[in-house]
Amino acid sequence: MINQDIESKIKNLESEFKKSIKTANDESEIESIRIQYLGRKGSISNLFKDLELFPLDERKQIGKKLNDLKSHIHTTLSKYQKTSQKKETSQQYLDPTLPGDRLPIGRYHPITTVLRKIISCFKSMGFSIAHGPEVETEYYNFEALNIPKGHPARDMQDTLFIDDNIVLRTHTSPVQIRVMENQPPPVRIIAPGRCYRRDTPDSTHSPVFYQVEGLCVDEGITFADMKGVISTFAKQLFGSQMKIRFRPSFFPFTEPSAEYDFTCMICEGKGCRVCKGTGWVEISGAGMVNPEVFKYVKYGSERYTGYAFGMGVERLAMLLYEVHDIRLFYENDVRFLNQF
Ligand code: DAH
Repeated sequence: MINQDIESKIKNLESEFKKSIKTANDESEIESIRIQYLGRKGSISNLFKDLELFPLDERKQIGKKLNDLKSHIHTTLSKYQKTSQKKETSQQYLDPTLPGDRLPIGRYHPITTVLRKIISCFKSMGFSIAHGPEVETEYYNFEALNIPKGHPARDMQDTLFIDDNIVLRTHTSPVQIRVMENQPPPVRIIAPGRCYRRDTPDSTHSPVFYQVEGLCVDEGITFADMKGVISTFAKQLFGSQMKIRFRPSFFPFTEPSAEYDFTCMICEGKGCRVCKGTGWVEISGAGMVNPEVFKYVKYGSERYTGYAFGMGVERLAMLLYEVHDIRLFYENDVRFLNQF
């Protein structure tokens, strides 16, 4: 038979607890009830201390009752705590005087930004924008550009073939042919777009990359016109201190052909790792449209001349933003993209 006195004390404590928890309004009130009942010097601990006064068999029975009450108080308190937390956050959520959550603002990919700059610059010089397919026939990608069968540019290592006659375009030059087929001179276009090559990715190579093609055909067009246009473009994109240079080269679709370089803006022409100590960075190729190409599109080469140029967009973006690895543009790491 357990002692009546301590049994009624346990019952009273339970009903007292029930009453007080019902009146608790917030988390701090719940916490003070917890201390009052379950704290080191709280009511339950005090009753446990009284246990020592009882003989062993009674101690066991009272101990069990006390432990039951203790765990009941514990679970009830945590239930109340959870609902009170919910109430408090939902009150916060509804507070119309709090400032709203700011949504993250999207931004252009750096390649898109550079493309937009290139396009607006050439538009201001009277060029219009042309597009062509990324999946191209051999005829447009090679043949009509005077790249005969067996030319190294057709090598399997460079070109991604869909089947014998269909390729992923390896450059934007086929757009030249498509434009000239569809309109008589004068022509003044740029053709921005994605190109593909079978390259192993490294810091300067990506199997997917962007080019901008330029083409201008009319009576009396000369190499000097092209130098003027490219130099104006370079200065607009990078500032008036930017210089360009042309080096003799060979492309089957231009005669004469050149490669052109921009001052390395990372070292301002002094020589660094990016420009391999030369102070110049190669941008792409250019030249006077080969009369052989005019034959394919039925332009009279006695009357018309034209220039064409290519442009590596990633290379320009790397110079403009001082990015040292082309792969960064295609990995979509937000820590990289957030910087633009
Ligand atoms: N299509 C060439 C390439 O991808 C670049 C190029 C060179 C374009 C000379 C031209 C040009 O229009 O005249 O490497």
